[in-house]
Amino acid sequence: MSNGSTKIRIYEVGPRDGLQNEKELIATKQKVELVNLLSDVGFEKIEVTSFVSPKWVPQMADATEVLSAINRNANVTYAALTPNMKGFEKAIEANVEEVAIFGSASETFSQKNINCSIKESLDRFLPVVKAGLAANVPVRAYVSCVAGCPYEGDISPDAVKLVAEQLLEMGCYEVSLGDTIGKGTPELISKMLEAVLKTVPDSQLAGHYHDTNGRALDNVQASLEYGVTTYDSAVGGLGGCPYAPGAKGNLSTKPLAEMLHAEGYSTGLDMKKLQKAEDYLAQNIANNN
Ligand code: HMG
Ligand code: MG
Repeated sequence: MSNGSTKIRIYEVGPRDGLQNEKELIATKQKVELVNLLSDVGFEKIEVTSFVSPKWVPQMADATEVLSAINRNANVTYAALTPNMKGFEKAIEANVEEVAIFGSASETFSQKNINCSIKESLDRFLPVVKAGLAANVPVRAYVSCVAGCPYEGDISPDAVKLVAEQLLEMGCYEVSLGDTIGKGTPELISKMLEAVLKTVPDSQLAGHYHDTNGRALDNVQASLEYGVTTYDSAVGGLGGCPYAPGAKGNLSTKPLAEMLHAEGYSTGLDMKKLQKAEDYLAQNIANNN
């Protein structure tokens, strides 16, 4: 239980990590409206979209259009995924304010997700990080499969540590630890954090826990014990299960904030405005699919 003074940063990733899983193409104007509603909630950062190959993720093909149409709140940093220099250049043209590279602790997932080995991915990320630093654009990094891989099964905590260290050494300001398929339990997450924290300070870590098995909140609880104060979540629990906001996908922002508030942490989120964004999602985007 917090003493009431600890601020937890909730990084809203729904427009990207949630919507990317929706099979039916969502109209750009609906994505824009969702981001606009989220912009009033009090998030410091919103991950809006991805500059990835439209052949790989057709849902994110309108990244430039979404970023140019949203009403930007000066208190919000608008971020996007950029797996390589091509994506980074497009993101900068679209005036993105933060970028994220995304690696993996699993070789097979790396191949399946970004078509290269872990080593090749780090080689591709380095120029992106350098260009970000040169342009004064903060670079965040993800490590996927921190508690297990859909192809390889168990992943060693040291594999997570190795990738996280290298991403931070390059100049990323934070590593978000992705339990991509929600296999994590408090025990697994604790073991993984113990390994990573040997060389990475808690202030440079975030928890990105998918809720496939309903354990994401428990995994946040475990991570709070290790001093992690940033967590990624998605409005309406979008993601994972297409067409069904509220179904188990990403950790849902509302229950995360409610749990943290009940324990005395502050998040800065306006729960009524968050509800408004959830309602919009349920009434418009979910119903269209
Ligand atoms: P590739 O085929 O190896 O790339 O894909 P390439 O460099 O050989 O280029 C092939 C084609 O893609 C070319 O076009 C390029 O121009 C184009 P063509 O000549 O065939 O017409 N291309 C691009 N187009 C737009 N934007 C780009 C870009 N780069 C190349 N940036 C690549 C490599 C990484 C591009 C591909 O594998 C890809 O796009 N993967 C997307 C993967 C993805 O978005 N996954 C979901 C996000 S990760 C995630 O959800 C996990 C996370 O939430 C954390 C967690 O939960 O664990 C972050
Ligand atoms: Mg994710």
